[in-house]
Amino acid sequence: MNSPTNQVYPVIWHNNAVSLIDQTRLPGEYTFVEISRSEDMAQAIKTMIVRGAPAIGVAAAYGMYMGAREIDTDNRDRFLKHLEQVAQMLRATRPTAVNLFWAISRMMKTAYETLGTVADIQNSLFHTAQSINAEDLQTCQAIGANGLKVLPTKPDKLCLLTHCNAGALATAGYGTALGVVRSAWSAGRLARVYADETRPRLQGAKLTTWECVQEGIPVTLITDSMAAHCMKQDFIDAVVVGADRIAANGDTANKIGTYSLALVARAHNIPFFVAAPLSTVDFSLADGSQIPIEQRHPAEIYQVGETILTPGEVEFYNPAFDVTPAALITAIITETGAFSPEELQNHREKQIV
Ligand code: MRU
Repeated sequence: MNSPTNQVYPVIWHNNAVSLIDQTRLPGEYTFVEISRSEDMAQAIKTMIVRGAPAIGVAAAYGMYMGAREIDTDNRDRFLKHLEQVAQMLRATRPTAVNLFWAISRMMKTAYETLGTVADIQNSLFHTAQSINAEDLQTCQAIGANGLKVLPTKPDKLCLLTHCNAGALATAGYGTALGVVRSAWSAGRLARVYADETRPRLQGAKLTTWECVQEGIPVTLITDSMAAHCMKQDFIDAVVVGADRIAANGDTANKIGTYSLALVARAHNIPFFVAAPLSTVDFSLADGSQIPIEQRHPAEIYQVGETILTPGEVEFYNPAFDVTPAALITAIITETGAFSPEELQNHREKQIV
């Protein structure tokens, strides 16, 4: 049995403000950015100081509370109107991860359903943000436990491949895909994690390896293009990834490169798991074709540090996410259990809205 050592919490409420681990500086620097204004929270989400679907949701919930306390009126209707503007500003930060929209909707629902004064509403909003944070941590731990039940039973100690960072840094703590890794590690069922570097922003190289090293989990970094080769060499027993938005039929948007990983996993008969909270499921979308895909600045692919990689005449395409068809997914691991994509609909009523 292995026990966790260093807990990582990317979004911490203290002294009436939020401390965010600055994920743009890891692994070189482990520093915090203090945020106390809603506008700064929106900027932190946009610039990826905080990133990863559930962590963005938690951060946005606190951003909503910050916005609520910035509104200077005792009039309920005027307050709610201004709060809608704060919600709009936060929604406009990143389009793909649905947890952002889910958390903001939950905060707006709290505001509309709280009777009493503006101060009462502000108070309720604070408590809802705290709940979203605390629930996500518990949810990730449940995902970890449920994941352990569906991992291959052979060999005794597994090698798991993951993509991007779906760890403590991407959630309230513990992680989704890395939550499964953590629980396998604690149970003595993990030999090693293979981390895709995850071009272009390198969340795998910079964040996933950092998290594993914090806990002494053996980790091997590979470039994205090495995954198929590693599978062919029999290095990989299962793939576990996170999700940014899952459509009602199980089609899953996650970091760019996830789809090709699912295809090569299928070609090698290796199980491919998606680990995500039910808040990541967008039951309003029938399938993945309707998931909005964030397009990011081309500099992420034509520039490394100060070095420009390409000649001037090149055109660029830099989608941040892709959609893996449900048919390539062995199981979706959630806080309520692990099930096939077709069974997702049965869990609809368990989603907190
Ligand atoms: O662009 P990012 O770094 O926010 O993308 C993160 C991912 O794609 C994660 O895999 C996903 O959000 C799941 S996090 C538990």
